[in-house]
Amino acid sequence: MTVRLAHFSDVHLTARRLGWTMRDMLGKRSTGWMNIRLLGRGSRFKHAPAVVEVLRRDLATRGYDHLVFSGDATMLGFDSEMAEAAARLGVNDPTMPPGIAVPGNHDVYVGAAARKQAFEAAFAPWQQGQRVGDSFYPFARKVGHVWLIAVNSARANFWLWDATGRVGEAQLARLRELTASLDAGPKIVVSHYPILMANRKPEPRWHRLRDWARVRDVAGQCGVSLWLHGHKHSWYVVPPDANLPFADICAGSSTQTKRWGYHEYTIDGWTLNALRRVYDPTAGAFADADHFALELPLKA
Ligand SMILES: [Fe+2]
Ligand SMILES: [Fe+2]
Repeated sequence: MTVRLAHFSDVHLTARRLGWTMRDMLGKRSTGWMNIRLLGRGSRFKHAPAVVEVLRRDLATRGYDHLVFSGDATMLGFDSEMAEAAARLGVNDPTMPPGIAVPGNHDVYVGAAARKQAFEAAFAPWQQGQRVGDSFYPFARKVGHVWLIAVNSARANFWLWDATGRVGEAQLARLRELTASLDAGPKIVVSHYPILMANRKPEPRWHRLRDWARVRDVAGQCGVSLWLHGHKHSWYVVPPDANLPFADICAGSSTQTKRWGYHEYTIDGWTLNALRRVYDPTAGAFADADHFALELPLKA
């Protein structure tokens, strides 16, 4: 009963031709674009296409049972960026292992991108699973003895400085219904937002999952053993304690210069062994870095 997963996040790819509309020029995307071009955010991701090419090779060849992508595929949630990111990650490539993916706040940067479900369309092969009725999230997928459960925590925000997320009561009610229907085995949530930061505190007000405490409580009651996410661009692990009924792992950004890396998880029964692989620009390859292990809280 061993399952091997690769977890990567926050690749923040963009496209050469974005496909601007007049509405974009007058709205949040134009200030976001200036932020990327003029204020340095773009330069932190200038190697992202090259790193993703190497990442994709690892994903295809290292014997993973399943891939886990925790969102922020793009910079501004344009259809063109979404298509580019899905193509570069090999979402439609039948030789790649199957994947599960959730959107990040940058993938629903404006309301229009969220409403037309641009992320869900581009990442459709990584959005397959058991659902409650015809609601899109959450959905669950069994890999070996493990359940991977996609929870959408990203939503479009009006203000440029608002990078908050929310799961919402309706989705939490469906999470209860969905998890009650699953058979035994570790339940692992894949979502964009963390519950807690490395210091065991919630994120700052304009960056956090707004309903983090409620999500933590309901997910705990649903028997979730592990919460996999991104959003924070540095990686970390928060083991469970009295205030957190499950473990929380942040993969960080897989492509941001000098923070680049991804995680390899081997889950044997209820024991998770993790290997962090870090990009080496000189070698043009990922190399083994940190190891850590977690006993997943045993829940039915
Ligand atoms: Fe991000
Ligand atoms: Fe994010």
